[in-house]
Amino acid sequence: MSEFKRVLVTAALPYANGPVHIGHLAGCYIPADIYVRYQRAQKRDVKFVGGSDEHGVPITIRAMKEGVTPQQIVDKYHEQIKQSLGQMGISFDIYSRTTSPVHHKTAADFFKKLFDEGLFEERESEQYYDEKANMFLADRYIVGTCPVCSNDNAYGDQCERCGSALSPDQLINPRSTLSDVVPVKKKTKHWYFPLQDYESFLKKWILEDHTEWKNNVFGQCKSWLDNGLQPRAMTRDSNWGIKVPLPDAEGKVLYVWFDAPIGYISATKELTENWADYWCKEDTKLVHFIGKDNIVFHCIIFPAMLKAHGNFVLPDNVPANEFLNIEGDKVSTSRNWAVWVHEYVKDFPGCEDVLRYVLCANAPENKDNDFTWKDFQDRNNNELASIFGNFINRTFVLMHKLCEGKVPRLHTDVLDEKDKGIIADIEAAKGKVQTALEHYRFRDALYEVIDLSRKGNKYMQEKEPWILAKSLTQIFPKEEAETIAQKSIDNCLHLCLQLTANLSILINPFLPATAGKMTYMMKVVERMLDWENAGRIDLLKPGYALRAPEILFRKIEDAEIEAQIQKLKAGVAETAKTIEQVSTAPISIIKPEIQFDDFAKIDLRTGVILSAEKVAKADKLLKLEIDLGYEKRTIVSGIALHHAPETIVGKRVVVVANLAPRKMRGIESNGMILMAENSDGKLIFVNSDTEVANGSSVS
Ligand code: 2FM
Ligand code: ZN
Repeated sequence: MSEFKRVLVTAALPYANGPVHIGHLAGCYIPADIYVRYQRAQKRDVKFVGGSDEHGVPITIRAMKEGVTPQQIVDKYHEQIKQSLGQMGISFDIYSRTTSPVHHKTAADFFKKLFDEGLFEERESEQYYDEKANMFLADRYIVGTCPVCSNDNAYGDQCERCGSALSPDQLINPRSTLSDVVPVKKKTKHWYFPLQDYESFLKKWILEDHTEWKNNVFGQCKSWLDNGLQPRAMTRDSNWGIKVPLPDAEGKVLYVWFDAPIGYISATKELTENWADYWCKEDTKLVHFIGKDNIVFHCIIFPAMLKAHGNFVLPDNVPANEFLNIEGDKVSTSRNWAVWVHEYVKDFPGCEDVLRYVLCANAPENKDNDFTWKDFQDRNNNELASIFGNFINRTFVLMHKLCEGKVPRLHTDVLDEKDKGIIADIEAAKGKVQTALEHYRFRDALYEVIDLSRKGNKYMQEKEPWILAKSLTQIFPKEEAETIAQKSIDNCLHLCLQLTANLSILINPFLPATAGKMTYMMKVVERMLDWENAGRIDLLKPGYALRAPEILFRKIEDAEIEAQIQKLKAGVAETAKTIEQVSTAPISIIKPEIQFDDFAKIDLRTGVILSAEKVAKADKLLKLEIDLGYEKRTIVSGIALHHAPETIVGKRVVVVANLAPRKMRGIESNGMILMAENSDGKLIFVNSDTEVANGSSVS
């Protein structure tokens, strides 16, 4: 560690296409946050950057499903994700987003530099195209059968069942996720990054220089490198993303996996004007926390991009976690088999540290792991409450009962073997926790902290200060008993209190809210939590009065656990029903991009409905008289199944005023009313809430 002057920690940018679940927390946010809090306690120069990944197919697909624009999707979920991570104590120095102007410029400049240096290969190739949706189908727009495991729903970029990285061409029986049609091949031009040119550099850098990386990460990298690297398209045909900064690139955007990791650089730029110290100076330790599905992007593709660009440091480590399953089944956001963070914080207010604890103690560090609500309850009740919390509570209660609420003295003349043993345990714990943290073994580190509290309980149980106090006063005259007993009691509680202070330092990176409650009870300042103080047994001064204890962890009841299990099951059933209902509904496809001039041809005006009546022999049509201010018009509109005529008189509407007249059931219709379809398929008026004169132009 000492050769590094600063530490830059990143945590994967979650797609802003839905809320975060506990798999996200266990995969990267909790380990990253523990690591960062530990670095801060070490008083190292550390920055923790993150943000939302707001481009790419996951966003556009979600927008189509919800019938809104991609911008609306990312605005909604960025805020929600940011709030959930904040509530769980994930202490980013900045949580930005890839739609930020700084990011757009940074990513476009990055691409342009590689382009100007002639690094991209421009290639025209045949790619799958959906003729119904008028779109090229890359990545998640296309599904088919996985050639490796025969999963029928593998994506064009990855099979989520077996984890294989795929290209759309490898899919058997490909179909469009937009319209379900079988796609055709069509020519398109893209810019390819020659990943194969970086193969020997990557082989040396990873396989020789980074043999210390976690087995799961190293193994995946080795397999990619052994299989040989191929050129990779760094652009896509889409209208959502960062525009390719070239003159002949209409309708092309940067591939989301090109722009997203650059988001770490952009976020650092937004955070500090000294951003280049963190990205360009060799004595920075850059650490990427991610989930296993992101390994290739962070260990192979992004480092090759950084190398090609030049001037940037490469990651020192990429401690990726495996996946966290729930109750024996893979997390599936589409099936709603997930424990959502925003729901957890509502259902278990004040228990954020409990979830942090369970997700760290049971982290999928080396293999996929299972989260069960029963295990959550057991770990809370049997470890946090019964061991850690219980030790601290007993210490405080006895200190108030036997030592007048003040820290007793340590009488070194009467230290016995048990006292010496617990002092040695306190001193050793720091080293054990530290070594594990420095090596990204967060489960082990947390185990050592709990183990120290377990030793504290054992020590107290063996010393039995409460019995000592009682029995000695029964045998000896009061004064004599006090002299003999009090020293022993003092020593026991003195050491238990010093142990409590140590526990607060050691638990702080893992359970920061708990550490905060402990410093409050001990009436010490936050600075006491500095790592350099761990291992000391003089943290609380004799004679210092402490507060009354507060219960750190309440018991979690069976009924609460049962309710969560039912909620999981009900969520899946409800979602399955909804999917069945909407799967027959036509998908609203985003139309191809148009130029401003095309839009400017449409004359949109505000108006008000003066009268409405049914059109004879036409179930769907209403004849409307509209006041446009400068004139009154007749418009025939297909909304009769959605609105009764008498309910819409006086409604404000937006009208396409220059639409060519058209006869419908013998009535000339002079324009069109704008309507939006809600999720139930009902047509709703698009109107202006602001009071403007009829006939005002809409733009
Ligand atoms: O897998 C994901 O959720 C991606 N949004 C992670 C991106 S990490 C980084 F590169 F930005
Ligand atoms: Zn597969």
